[in-house]
Amino acid sequence: MADITVTEHLLLHQKRTPQATGQFTGLLYDLILSGKSIARRINQAGLLDILGGTGEVNVQGENVQKLDSIANRIMLYRMERCGALCAMSSEEEADLVRVRPEFPRGDYILIFDPLDGSSNIDVNINVGTIFSIFRRPEGNTGEVSLNEVLQPGVKQVGAGYILYGPATMLVLSTGQGVHGFTLDPGVGEFLLSHPNMRIPQQGHIYSVNGGNWKNWDETTRKAVSWFRTCETPDGKAYSARYVGALVADFHRTLIYGGIYMYPPDIVKPHGKLRLMCEANPLAFLAEQAGGKASDGHGRILERVPDALHTRTPLFIGSTKDVEAVENIYAHPVV
Ligand code: AHG
Ligand code: MN
Ligand code: MN
Repeated sequence: MADITVTEHLLLHQKRTPQATGQFTGLLYDLILSGKSIARRINQAGLLDILGGTGEVNVQGENVQKLDSIANRIMLYRMERCGALCAMSSEEEADLVRVRPEFPRGDYILIFDPLDGSSNIDVNINVGTIFSIFRRPEGNTGEVSLNEVLQPGVKQVGAGYILYGPATMLVLSTGQGVHGFTLDPGVGEFLLSHPNMRIPQQGHIYSVNGGNWKNWDETTRKAVSWFRTCETPDGKAYSARYVGALVADFHRTLIYGGIYMYPPDIVKPHGKLRLMCEANPLAFLAEQAGGKASDGHGRILERVPDALHTRTPLFIGSTKDVEAVENIYAHPVV
């Protein structure tokens, strides 16, 4: 395959997409640069005493890992200076981060999870950075209000993730399909390796933290049990796979098909995952790849967030598998 760099790919797309301005391409370029910096720190983590926790607890009530904090700082530093943003929201920041007046301001809003799956860091298992991009509502200027940021996922103009795995990969959609790029560390560039990614209509893998079984209601148990007993079109049983890093579990689902589930339970009645920095961007990718993302009752992308850190149940992946769950929730066990 001819080597197409992500920059070349974006420039080609910029010509085809009226909404993709030079500002938008610049935003993506700086996001990619941030991802490369984070990848480098992760690769060296075991050597630089940056494994383990900081001893702090974040706004989500979760232990902050040193690399959560480093990734967050790399993103905030670079992206505030990119000239395309007016505000950011990070999983690790309680409040909206507005671009300060000393930096050039643009029309876009960036929401991100700087390091997803960070509890896996100490055991050298995949982690990733997930991002979601919105445009500021037309005609608004001055200080950005929270309401301008709390947009439903359908309004995203771009979304993706950088997966730090055996290879570092960027998976991106600007609304024209999903494209995957692999970092060639020798040249320091992401090269197009997975053009036009499509999720199979039905998969053969389900992914859920079965340890939550005792906290699920009967309807959720029925939904999970469905995949323990149903068959693929060629008569095979489904396999269970759960990394515990959403970005990695989603990446596998995007390529092989199947379903990733994080249902509500009695301890987490709204689910665990964050709508804006986790569910929305992956739902955008899933739909762009021909799959589906649901909260069990309806489309993730239509949910209007009531806060930056709103949580949601998530069922995402192959259309048939997600629809099977929606059908079960449509007839709750009483
Ligand atoms: P984060 O590391 O950004 O806090 O996200 C962790 C999330 C997600 O990546 C993963 O799928 C999920 O937590 C795992 O939760 P359980 O350990 O409850 O299964
Ligand atoms: Mn996360
Ligand atoms: Mn995180």
